Amino acid sequence: MPDRQKHRFSAIDLFCGCGGLSLGLRKAGFKVLAAVDNDPLSVNTYRKNHRRTLLIENDIQSVEPVAIMQQLNLKAGDLDLLAGCPPCQGFSTLRTFNGAYEIDEPMNDLVFEFARFARVLLPKTLMMENVPGLMNDDRLRRLRRRLRTLGYKCDAKVFDAARFGVAQRRRRMILLASRVDRPVFAMPTRRERTVAEALRVLLEPENSEDPIHNYPVRRGDHVLSLIRRIPKDGGSRTDLPEEDQLECHRKFDGFKDIYGRMAWRRPAPTITGGCINPSKGRFVHPEEDRAITLREAAVLQGFPKGYLFDLARGRYPVAQMIGNAFPPKFAEHHARSLYRQLEASLQNRSLTALS
Ligand SMILES: C[S@@+](CC[C@H](N)C(=O)[O-])C[C@H]1O[C@@H](n2cnc3c(N)ncnc32)[C@H](O)[C@@H]1O
Repeated sequence: MPDRQKHRFSAIDLFCGCGGLSLGLRKAGFKVLAAVDNDPLSVNTYRKNHRRTLLIENDIQSVEPVAIMQQLNLKAGDLDLLAGCPPCQGFSTLRTFNGAYEIDEPMNDLVFEFARFARVLLPKTLMMENVPGLMNDDRLRRLRRRLRTLGYKCDAKVFDAARFGVAQRRRRMILLASRVDRPVFAMPTRRERTVAEALRVLLEPENSEDPIHNYPVRRGDHVLSLIRRIPKDGGSRTDLPEEDQLECHRKFDGFKDIYGRMAWRRPAPTITGGCINPSKGRFVHPEEDRAITLREAAVLQGFPKGYLFDLARGRYPVAQMIGNAFPPKFAEHHARSLYRQLEASLQNRSLTALS
């Protein structure tokens, strides 16, 4: 897209976190006018990277959409896209034991904030991302019903980010809604981006001055000796002879990926908030005897290597922000689809006005 055409349409990002979604929206050509989040560290991080966006640090339930409209000089129906990723803890299949029972969390009801904002702002289109578990939750059905009442056509599907230019397996539900036309999802590709392709933009951590890449980490001898023995490039602790495995792992068969290494020529596993801890998943570097760094995790999520993160509270909260993000490239693909629809509707309107 030529630069001068960029940012023709407007967007607001609810639950903006560190800004993965906003970055994707900007790449797709949207101007992100405002963003809301109640976590001070996420807000600081967001501000460092998206300086022109009106940033509201508050519990979304206390934010009046009308106040945002006044600040931005918007009327109902002016906004092109309302987008966001409500917190998803309670919908995760891990938390609900593969959906066997539901965990009621007040945080889950935050999905309805979308409908509350949509009712007042009446944006032309909407995009919401969440874990696949939401697909089977009654709250999604209720949200869709509310949006339909407001005149939106909705569709929700689960996609893997690996099919949208992200070097990572990450299944996520995306809801698209539109008052313009039936929303259309971006087409997945066959080609998957690999860990090697994503990480080759980075220097070795010890040669880097990036504070989230060369952050000093000390691991216990026990863990180090285990990691050293995991076969390079995709190996697991289950590849080790039984006598080399930890007592607790021998007894317990679950979570086979923990202490596993990523494979150079495959996408990474889902980057979670635990992504710098080898005991939380397959987060060991393909060949070095260490977990991936925060910068590697961010790059595997699709953030550019210069994206700034606030280390004021140490590395674990940064890992959490990175793991929570909507991979920018994944967001970009679906946002582009909405962008094209908005463009087509603008052209149709000009043609109708001419005839
Ligand atoms: C899934 S993360 C968002 C990720 C973000 N869209 C990105 O791409 O980087 C959910 C966010 O919701 C925020 N949040 C949780 N409860 C909130 C509330 N009541 N009001 C505003 N933000 C909230 C959290 O601080 C977190 O940043």
